[in-house]
Amino acid sequence: IKADKSSIIIFGASGDLTSRKLIPAIFKLFKRNLLSENFYVLGVARTQMNDQNFRDKTKNIISNLCKDEKIINRFLKIIYYQNGQYNDINLYKILNDKIKYLDDKYKTNGNNLFYFATPPDIHSIIIKKLGEVGLNDQKNNFKRVIIEKPFGSDLNSSNSLDDELHKYLEEQQIYRIDHYLGKETVQNIMMLRFANIIFEPIWNYKYIDNIQITVSESLGIGHRAGYFENAGLLRDMFQNHMLQLLTLVAMEPPASLEPVSVRNEKVKLLKSIRPFNNKNIDDNLVRGQYISSKIDDEIVPGYREEKNVAKNSCTETYVAGKFFIDNWRWSGVPFYLRSGKRLKKKLSQIAIIFKDVPHSIFSHDFINLEQNSLILNVQPDEGFSLYIQAKQPGSKLCLNTLNMDFKYKNHFDFDPPEAYERLILDALIGDQTLFVRSDAMKISWELLEPIINKWKKENTLNFYEAGTWGPKESSRLFKNGTWYPLR
Ligand code: BG6
Repeated sequence: IKADKSSIIIFGASGDLTSRKLIPAIFKLFKRNLLSENFYVLGVARTQMNDQNFRDKTKNIISNLCKDEKIINRFLKIIYYQNGQYNDINLYKILNDKIKYLDDKYKTNGNNLFYFATPPDIHSIIIKKLGEVGLNDQKNNFKRVIIEKPFGSDLNSSNSLDDELHKYLEEQQIYRIDHYLGKETVQNIMMLRFANIIFEPIWNYKYIDNIQITVSESLGIGHRAGYFENAGLLRDMFQNHMLQLLTLVAMEPPASLEPVSVRNEKVKLLKSIRPFNNKNIDDNLVRGQYISSKIDDEIVPGYREEKNVAKNSCTETYVAGKFFIDNWRWSGVPFYLRSGKRLKKKLSQIAIIFKDVPHSIFSHDFINLEQNSLILNVQPDEGFSLYIQAKQPGSKLCLNTLNMDFKYKNHFDFDPPEAYERLILDALIGDQTLFVRSDAMKISWELLEPIINKWKKENTLNFYEAGTWGPKESSRLFKNGTWYPLR
């Protein structure tokens, strides 16, 4: 598959995301020859720079990704820059002319992919101005928009942003990005479930005891206090990544891989998640904030001591929740989700824990047979492991847990593409499967709204030491059982 002829116009081009993720991803696509020959990149931001300055900056970013000067130089030639104020119509008039000129030069057929890598309050300003100069208008070509999270900060703001977008764009032109959906192992959840016969028959309440999704990070909030103080972990990770992971593990098989088919199933699933209300929130959710302690022998500051964080901040850096899906397949099966900053290590995994055998003939010697489990490792060490009971060699009847371990890196000879590579390529091709549709976005916010409101009024924060697996209070989500040990 190769991208259609097009340009990418990045708003927020001098920002962190552009340097860390977007430019490297676009460059890797270029290097792998997956972009069209009719292609250019135009960066837009407030910072004063000319084309050459932006090319120099880009060169710094990509020079450790490639040793071949020729490829680097070829790439730099198709990079352009325009500075200006996002709310100034003159910027868009200039852009309009510049894009027309570059579209002609590169024969892109007028196809443009706009990437909004800007703070959320700027998204609606940009789309309005693009609309005013007609850059949203498709005439036998495409005008698409990729929008970075956060997509609003609650149901209300997300709805207003959506309304604003829909004034100027059709839903088919809008690509709401959730980079977790571009991760190789996340996509593999669908393959594993729907390309094999052996999992789906037992993928339900009859055989599954509970499912646990963990996304932990050892890093703190870095330079992002300004954003994180207002967002908190629930908005930062649950509204998007965590709910998307839950959806992929739990949704019904779609009729086909067509975007509409997959996205319909996801929405159906999101709609069946049991809503939270004032009464059940305390029983089903735990929030925490890290305090100073050691990670890898190094003392790290507590959240309240981080730069630009209020000394009495009540922003959560950890959330654990128990979710139920009220449909036939998942009746009574708890889904435990947890995510946090400054935890023991960086790890994303989905643990599917199966029920006990109905009757154990080994019960004399083994009262507690360990439950079978299937662990999907999203990162690092991408792969999956199946834990089963097996006989331990020897004359005595002795059972032990056996681990069948599959690691991508032992099997495939190349590094999987980065999430952003995959997603940018999809947007250039016009495949919306891995992007979040308007209704899915709305339902996710609806689900979190009562929690956000309650936490705004009540301070129910628990503290945990950096470098641990989170507040001990998270174990109260379990009636029986506990968190699956992270290995
Ligand atoms: C982002 C969040 O969406 O995902 C960050 O805003 C988080 O807070 C990041 O660190 C985690 O992504 P990854 O790909 O590093 O697991």
